[in-house]
Amino acid sequence: MKVVQTIPELHAVRVTLPEPVGFVPTMGFLHEGHLSLVRAARAACASVVVSIFVNPTQFGPNEDFAAYPRDLARDLALLEPLGVDLVWAPQVEDLYPPAFQTWVVVEELTRPLEGAMRPGHFRGVTTVVAKLFNAVQPQRAYFGQKDAQQATVIRRMVFDLNYPIEIIVCPTVREPDGLAMSSRNTYLSPGERQAATVLFRALSAAQQAYRSGERRADQLRQIMQAILASEPLARPQYVSCADPETLQEIEGEVVSGALLSMAVFIGRTRLIDNLLLTEENHASYD
Ligand code: PAJ
Repeated sequence: MKVVQTIPELHAVRVTLPEPVGFVPTMGFLHEGHLSLVRAARAACASVVVSIFVNPTQFGPNEDFAAYPRDLARDLALLEPLGVDLVWAPQVEDLYPPAFQTWVVVEELTRPLEGAMRPGHFRGVTTVVAKLFNAVQPQRAYFGQKDAQQATVIRRMVFDLNYPIEIIVCPTVREPDGLAMSSRNTYLSPGERQAATVLFRALSAAQQAYRSGERRADQLRQIMQAILASEPLARPQYVSCADPETLQEIEGEVVSGALLSMAVFIGRTRLIDNLLLTEENHASYD
């Protein structure tokens, strides 16, 4: 497993890699969610490249860029046994030279949900992912359903900018009690960690109601709100039942495939989770 920092070092190794190249962009502090993407890439591609970069431009001024957990040695130890060919861990200066001023913006899809709560977040995400794609030149790139809007926005960007890259979205990996794995779960105290299960409980209750015949989007949102309200440590920021392609709120009746999503503060930690409504009890289809 080669490990490089600068773009010239990356290029020197990239030209030696057999294709197709599968790419997994991450911000590090890896967990099973990230590793599931690496395994999917390993199974389908001749070479696997992982990037580790805590991207400053996707964090708001009052967000956790400085506090975001970082441990490169631990990340490399997790990636090595998975057969990764190349890890690219750039510094901020490698991707953002002085006077940097060029941005990639996806418009409509970034207005609702996370985009509404985190102004500028997706501009940072699409800009860095475009730069990572340009540098790595993968044939395939792997993203998690955990960040559903991010995956939708990246697909749009790839289509609109004609990137010759196939985007693969992998299922959300959860702890045994349903909490979606996230690097930010490390911020939770033991009491908060317990309370954090409320996100998946709320999503599951709405899924269950849908499977029992409830079709009113507003009712599904209310079911989620009610469960979140039962947890004293939880402060919901938004609760949504939206069209999975446009990300617009559904006002009338939902159909299979609708996207349930939420952002909830548990103490000072902001968590997100989502589920795609399905008719049957195929738990792995979220
Ligand atoms: P990060 O939060 O590190 O996530 C990297 C990838 O892992 C994303 O595609 C994310 O959706 C996926 N992922 C995270 N938790 C997951 C889980 N529990 N199950 C499945 N997949 C999961 O997302 C980012 O970094 C950044 O925005 C990035 C795309 C790297 C751009 O900076």
